[in-house]
Amino acid sequence: MERTDEMTGPSLVVLTGAGISAESGLGTFRSRDGIWAKYDLYKVATPQAFASDPAMVHDFYNLRRKACLKANPHAGHTALACLQREWRGEFQLITQNVDDLHERAGSENVLHMHGELLRARCHSCGHRWPAPRRMDPKDECPKCFRAATRPDVVWFGEEPYHMDEIYRLTRLAEVFVVIGSSGQVYPAADLADIAMGRGAKTYELNIEPTGGPFISGIYGPASETLPEWVDRLIGAQ
Ligand code: APR
Ligand code: ZN
Repeated sequence: MERTDEMTGPSLVVLTGAGISAESGLGTFRSRDGIWAKYDLYKVATPQAFASDPAMVHDFYNLRRKACLKANPHAGHTALACLQREWRGEFQLITQNVDDLHERAGSENVLHMHGELLRARCHSCGHRWPAPRRMDPKDECPKCFRAATRPDVVWFGEEPYHMDEIYRLTRLAEVFVVIGSSGQVYPAADLADIAMGRGAKTYELNIEPTGGPFISGIYGPASETLPEWVDRLIGAQ
């Protein structure tokens, strides 16, 4: 986003995790009843899993895509979209989430570092397109017609998307806020540290402290804490 002269606020980077979608009914990963308590990630979220059983992996993402399409953004997502519109400095939303709740709440130019459930990719020619509701190993790529389609999500062991841009923005951030992430997965978990190391003020919004590198936190469900926090930020400009 270009900096224009009426922009007087600090540059603000927000990183979200599964916790911001929890109250929309989409599970988190590491809570007691989380996704990784129900599924073995090594069987559904690695390139090796996809190579050995593509139907199993497609089924896992078909279920999550179905849940995503049924879910709705909540007041926390809407508050973040409002913050992007009203913030007087540079603003960038980065998400680890593969759902489209931020976009449906009005956020723009969201950097999905772990990809997007609603997009498909061809692992033969690299073509990307909007994913059908259900994907199947027999589906053909609309461009090269090979049966080589996969969900356009980043699996464990793969390089997350947009990392050059994400590191650039993180190093320039004056305020770096992590919302609803346990800080267990890298490189996302490094970003607050990098920002703090460059002098940024770092904060977290979560239901409980994660012990990450934050100068302070706001604790409670994101659908409640986020609207209040955004109102205070915008009101203080
Ligand atoms: N409001 C705010 N925070 C919440 C809420 C809520 N209602 N509910 C849960 N949380 C917090 C939890 O306390 C936890 O810190 O959200 C966080 C969810 O952590 P994880 O389940 O580990 O999800 P996340 O940090 O996004 O995982 C990162 O791991 O498996 C991979 O690719 C996957 O993108 C994911 C990555
Ligand atoms: Zn192709």
